[in-house]
Amino acid sequence: MNNPNTIITIFGGTGDLTYRKLLPAFYNLVHGNKFSASSHIVIVGRRDFTTESYREQLRPWIESNSRYSVNDAVFDQFLNHIHYIKITFTEFEGYPHLRDFYSSLDKSDGIVHQHLFYFAVSPSYFVTIANHLNKAGLADEARLIIEKPFGNDLKSSIAINEALEQLFNPENIFRIDHYLAKEMVQNILTLRFENALFESVWNADMIDNIQISATETVGVESRGNFYDTVGALKDMIQSHLLQVLSIVTMEKPLSLDATDLHTMQENALDAFTIRNPQTDIVYGQYTEHKDSKSYINEDNVNSQSKTETFVAFKGYVETPRLHNVPIFVRTGKRMHRRSTEVVVELKSQEHAPRNLIVIKIQPDEGVYVRFNMNKPGTDGEKQTVYLDFCKSCNYVFRQETPEAYERLLNAALNNDHTLFASFKQVVQCWTLVESWIEASQNNPIHDYKAYTDGPQASHDLLKQHHTTWFSEQVLGDVYEIEHNE
Ligand SMILES: NC(=O)c1ccc[n+]([C@@H]2O[C@H](COP(=O)([O-])OP(=O)(O)OC[C@H]3O[C@@H](n4cnc5c(N)ncnc54)[C@H](OP(=O)(O)O)[C@@H]3O)[C@@H](O)[C@H]2O)c1
Repeated sequence: MNNPNTIITIFGGTGDLTYRKLLPAFYNLVHGNKFSASSHIVIVGRRDFTTESYREQLRPWIESNSRYSVNDAVFDQFLNHIHYIKITFTEFEGYPHLRDFYSSLDKSDGIVHQHLFYFAVSPSYFVTIANHLNKAGLADEARLIIEKPFGNDLKSSIAINEALEQLFNPENIFRIDHYLAKEMVQNILTLRFENALFESVWNADMIDNIQISATETVGVESRGNFYDTVGALKDMIQSHLLQVLSIVTMEKPLSLDATDLHTMQENALDAFTIRNPQTDIVYGQYTEHKDSKSYINEDNVNSQSKTETFVAFKGYVETPRLHNVPIFVRTGKRMHRRSTEVVVELKSQEHAPRNLIVIKIQPDEGVYVRFNMNKPGTDGEKQTVYLDFCKSCNYVFRQETPEAYERLLNAALNNDHTLFASFKQVVQCWTLVESWIEASQNNPIHDYKAYTDGPQASHDLLKQHHTTWFSEQVLGDVYEIEHNE
């Protein structure tokens, strides 16, 4: 453990993110002995909790969301780090109380703590809270973690960033895109750059096409109000999938330091283009199926809504490495299966079926490679076979794999920016997405039946290139099914 004594203050400490992700992540850090004994977690909320009553309701959240089963001694240790302060974060009057509380913690521990503020709230509150912290003399030297989305569009994200950078040191701002911290997204770097087997084929001479697909079976659930103003392109592509794309397509960084890594990701995003948005972007919206409602009949969704719940597109990274290699990206809700994966389809040799490299990101994690062999007992007849490394099928690997938020919090405590997005990346992603929205505003929105694999038009995008979306069952899928039964 090398993270210094820190007071982490969570604004939005009574929200879903705090209960389901942040506090279980802190529990795991305590369990793994990665949280210093003199660090504290201060929960800021407007609800009527005391520290005791807040602590009392935590156990079920930790039990259902921590990767370790809860151990009484560790849990008590974890609870001792937690404090609840009731203030309304939109009003300044609570902030001097917060400052006094920090002083009391400094005094009782006999040290001056560093500060890390976590804004687990809507971006519309970021600047208000930052201003109040600054007025109370708490922003200097402090680190700040902000959650995606960084604003609702390019303009608002720039405005928020400018305001925050006037109050906090830009080097102390950490922008979360939790996909960047997923085990298998980080493993793309190792797979590509530490294996001759993969590094040697990662180029336009060998790759036929790349697919990045994130499909969900859930619909909009209780997020209708939010989702209906956003849609799949802004919700999933602007942030998560363009980040994944940058890691899959970038050049090798000089080192794995944040600056070198971000530079290569930024270069990849600069080089990415959809050549014909009018034909190469496909929008979809789910319709009803059996007991499942259509999108427009979901709660808090406009019954005339034109918001897309599915988007697929074809683009190119215009670099010598990947020149003319089509890159297909899709994401959608209420689809046939929950799966996020990157598929690299290699060019066919001697007209044999193409080799595939599949990086499974979630829910199962691993790498699947498909290749050709002779079929036993035949006279040279061929068959496709596969190597399937299912990392998440192994209980020990599964338990030893930190969840994205655990990794992110640990990195921020240690001042490591590699897992976070640079502001330049945020601007690039918004710029790309806004230009595509503008250029594709007359594209139709295709219906697709709930629990199917999206509109036909998205399959047609790949058909033009003589391929299909990856749909083979791999070891991880079987494991997931068996463990859900
Ligand atoms: N949940 C996730 O898994 C997830 C994942 C990625 C990103 N995010 C982002 O993280 C942020 C928080 O998400 P969430 O799901 O935790 O939201 P949430 O469940 O709605 O929680 C919002 C928090 O903000 C507080 N709050 C809202 N308005 C307030 C006000 N006017 N004054 C004082 N407190 C106020 C709420 O307090 P009350 O309890 O008193 O209402 C609650 O603690 C959002 O920006 C979201 O996009 C969330």
